Amino acid sequence: MPGFELFGPEERKEVNDVLETGILMRYGFDGPRKGIWKSRELEAAICQAFGCQHAQLVSSGTAALTVALAALGIGVGDEVIMPVFTFVASFEAVLSIGAVPVLADVDETLTLDPESVRKAITPRTKCVMPVHMCGSMADLDTLQEICREHKLILLEDACQSIGASYKGKYLGTIGDAGTFSFDFVKTITCAEGGAVLTNNKEIHAKADGFSDHGHDHIGNDRGLEQHPFIGYNFRISELHAAVGLAQIRKLDKFLAIQKKNHSQLKTILSGLPEISFRAIPDPAGDSCTFLSWFLPTEELTMALVKELKEQGIYAGNFYWYADHNWHYIRKWEHLRNASTLYKLNDPQIQGLQQIAKSSFSSSDAVMGRCISTAISLAWTEAQTMEKGEKILAAVRKVLSKQKAYQ
Ligand SMILES: Cc1ncc(COP(=O)(O)O)c(C=O)c1O
Repeated sequence: MPGFELFGPEERKEVNDVLETGILMRYGFDGPRKGIWKSRELEAAICQAFGCQHAQLVSSGTAALTVALAALGIGVGDEVIMPVFTFVASFEAVLSIGAVPVLADVDETLTLDPESVRKAITPRTKCVMPVHMCGSMADLDTLQEICREHKLILLEDACQSIGASYKGKYLGTIGDAGTFSFDFVKTITCAEGGAVLTNNKEIHAKADGFSDHGHDHIGNDRGLEQHPFIGYNFRISELHAAVGLAQIRKLDKFLAIQKKNHSQLKTILSGLPEISFRAIPDPAGDSCTFLSWFLPTEELTMALVKELKEQGIYAGNFYWYADHNWHYIRKWEHLRNASTLYKLNDPQIQGLQQIAKSSFSSSDAVMGRCISTAISLAWTEAQTMEKGEKILAAVRKVLSKQKAYQ
């Protein structure tokens, strides 16, 4: 998935444009920057590429979520429904603006199970935050219907799914707002960066101001700008935006390579009836950053992971359920224990106590059997074939061992 695999002279050229002016900040210094506005250019390129009205660049995907939540007016006492399989940034952002994360199950799409969302709604629910994990999408039609029915905000976390689409629209542009991350392992990267996407002018104006100390960005004297509300500093730098600009121009190429490698690997793994694949609400829209697949049981999956590690071929495969501390509820002890450096508000304390008491057995039943294989931009056809065949051989081995014990 990472765009860093195909770095080249294009990125260097854009960065050099900025270094030559010496103006590393995205705002102000109109004269000395000699017409170089990389952040503005990247925002326009995002709107053009993804067909949205507004894009606000910020310093990370986590910042994008935080800024989006604030711009959407979510705060103390409000509940935000998010999935148990995501990245820790989801609950970090919700907590940082004073709201309460409420966890819902995922289904075989590896994203929010709409039925679990319905069950999690309370009078305090303000927002549903699907996370389009591992390159593919949530069931957005059903989630939109739920949001309409209950008058809830839909905030799409598309940080891991840049370039994926749902029924002809790009992920991140379908809800009230959406977010991208350009961190170092994302489809397009600028080391650290993110964006808030929206088709709503007012939400964009709020995101714009909130990410820069509440500046209204009106006029051409930064010192005289007004502050209609309090904001913070979540700005991106011109150096980062410059790299992002070179990368977004390569996005179509990245997606084409991902799709080709993904399709080849999927064909190989389809050779075994015991392997099944992630459900994808709109298969044509998959950005193919990962191939996520299932074995019949958690026990077999654990055995396979052990086998892949023993053979030294596990790298690039992700068993989120047991091996990673960042993505799945099972390893979020710091969230369940409410381990923060500062005092939480009362609804947050109660919300985290509720999470600590909850079990997510239907998500466990999905995630315990799931392996995601990251799709590299650098693989040749022969390497993809070799990788797939080695995985298949390892799966056959654990299946035959299991049969021997039955
Ligand atoms: C789903 C998701 N949301 C948000 C983020 C946060 O992005 P960043 O690392 O740019 O802060 C990530 C990063 O991995 C992510 O995967």
